[in-house]
Amino acid sequence: MKGKSLISITDFNKEQQLRILEIAAGFEKNPNQKLLNDHVVASLFFEPSTRTRLSFETAANRLGARVIGFSDSGSTSVKKGESLKDTIIMVSGYADIIVMRHPREGAARWASEVSTVPVINAGDGANQHPTQCLLDMYSIMQTQGKLEDLNIAFVGDLKYGRTVHSLVQAMCNFNATFHLVSPEELKLPSSVKMHIKNAKLEYHQYTELQDIMHIADIIYMTRIQKERFSDPMEYEKVKNSYVLNKSMLETSKQNMKILHPLPRVNEISEDVDNMPQAFYFKQAENGVYVRQALLAAIAGVK
Ligand code: CP
Repeated sequence: MKGKSLISITDFNKEQQLRILEIAAGFEKNPNQKLLNDHVVASLFFEPSTRTRLSFETAANRLGARVIGFSDSGSTSVKKGESLKDTIIMVSGYADIIVMRHPREGAARWASEVSTVPVINAGDGANQHPTQCLLDMYSIMQTQGKLEDLNIAFVGDLKYGRTVHSLVQAMCNFNATFHLVSPEELKLPSSVKMHIKNAKLEYHQYTELQDIMHIADIIYMTRIQKERFSDPMEYEKVKNSYVLNKSMLETSKQNMKILHPLPRVNEISEDVDNMPQAFYFKQAENGVYVRQALLAAIAGVK
């Protein structure tokens, strides 16, 4: 993985993905390993973020690297009309690895083609979020003790949910059965369903959340993403489609865990937070260990 960019989860094969999870487990046991003292990591966020940016920056700091970058492109020369291409060429002269989030689908791939250093996609529009995918896989492994043969329910905005697109693709390597719960308007795109079909796996579509409660090993809740809708009325129609609350968990399997990439709005009630099924805050913490593993692997020190 040394020197490689990570733009789509399929840029790393199954063995490479599993290797990242293995390295991450080592960082969870011992997070302060100064392996990147001589490295500069650029953190370029053209779109808002809490977890991804802060966990990448924490990961880089725990590895001893220095971090440059911005969390708001409004304070950069993009505001003066500088292109993404020119911005990336400049930054690749300053840093050893670029972490980039951008609202436009394909922006990260474009950046990796003009950059002279590896680019890690921290989310590009509704397309992909491969580092979230790896921390989701790590969290599934941690809660289920395995990745194979699981019933995974994805709930909410499956159309625009880039974390869903990446995780569905990754779990196609592990004989998952997919349970897809969404409003009609927000179904999983056929380009992502094609991965399931190509892997000869099953998927089932639902509109009611309660229908998957007794089947799922993992319930992957997602936010309905207001910012991706061009028509505000369309968002209004679907915004409260699913709200998972404590009483709905009565029929869940013993091993079932709830994941959510976060942020949540109202799709998980706060009364779920203290239930044994809730894993989303620990999932977010896992982002640090997984991103340490990625930075170390791409830098070639692990
Ligand atoms: N999960 C995730 O991408 O969260 P942020 O948008 O806060 O980075």
